[in-house]
Amino acid sequence: MSKQFLQDVEEGLSKSKKTIPSKYFYDKRGDELFIKIMHLPEYYLTRSELEIFQTKTAQIIEALALSPSSYFELIELGAGDGLKTLELLKPLVVQNFSFDYMPIDISMNALELIADKLKGALPSLSIKKQQGDYFKILDSLKATSHPKVVLFLGSSIGNMEDEEAIGFLSALGSNLSKGDKLLLGVDLIKPASVVLPAYNDSQGVTRDFNLNLLRRINEELHGDFNLNEFEHIPSYSEEDGYARSYLKSRKDQKVRINGNGNFYELKEGEQIQTEVSRKYNDEIINTILEKTDFEIQSKITDNKGYFANYVLNRV
Ligand code: AVI
Repeated sequence: MSKQFLQDVEEGLSKSKKTIPSKYFYDKRGDELFIKIMHLPEYYLTRSELEIFQTKTAQIIEALALSPSSYFELIELGAGDGLKTLELLKPLVVQNFSFDYMPIDISMNALELIADKLKGALPSLSIKKQQGDYFKILDSLKATSHPKVVLFLGSSIGNMEDEEAIGFLSALGSNLSKGDKLLLGVDLIKPASVVLPAYNDSQGVTRDFNLNLLRRINEELHGDFNLNEFEHIPSYSEEDGYARSYLKSRKDQKVRINGNGNFYELKEGEQIQTEVSRKYNDEIINTILEKTDFEIQSKITDNKGYFANYVLNRV
């Protein structure tokens, strides 16, 4: 049992507005469900960002101010499934850019999967897998002082509240040097008629993904959540751009986590917030960036204007 997991769940369930951190979605079952989500017709995010990478890599490469003759490190935070990255890597390899591709992930398994996939498609690509914590690895890479391009895709930043995003980007900035670049993928604010179905798909995969958190608590922390007594509730406000997911208690109930022996009371209708999926516009991005060492250099969107990849310059 992970002590940190237990501590975070305990803290979240003890708040007056209960929460469970969304990072705990991703165990083996959660990873599988997220892959399913990425292929759902309603989940436009992955397709929209992939479209950018399939049709606009020339624009991305230009905005990153890369030249084939000067060496750089292409660092990806999170191994991902490689599809988008492959689209960017292809022209870089074909045009003989001088670089190493360095995916950073906590999971060696995820790194090996991505490396095998990319090597199969681009045998001459140099891949240097980096297993561990993003910031520890970036700190260790700092010593070489090679120019760096960091990829943080998929609107993963959207799973952070703005204050957390500021902290994350500030830490990232302090591990980079002036002129380094960050390619940041973000989901853009759009009508609820498009966003809500992405978090409430007709096949119920997102519901299962959300409920998987409780299954995981039961399994790893010896909890006794009855999954049938909780309902998946997505919410979204186009005004402020916040999509949130909750698990709503269907009745008054007590749940017990045997890992610590504590009971938690839930009233009928009470909601546990499990995720924030922030949507952005230029104003929100600039408000966040003002408190960091990054500024917008360029913005590249898909044809519908659903998703953006911002090229940010470390100042
Ligand atoms: C990983 N992250 C960007 C996804 C999102 O859209 O917030 C996770 C997700 N949650 C529900 N569906 C997908």
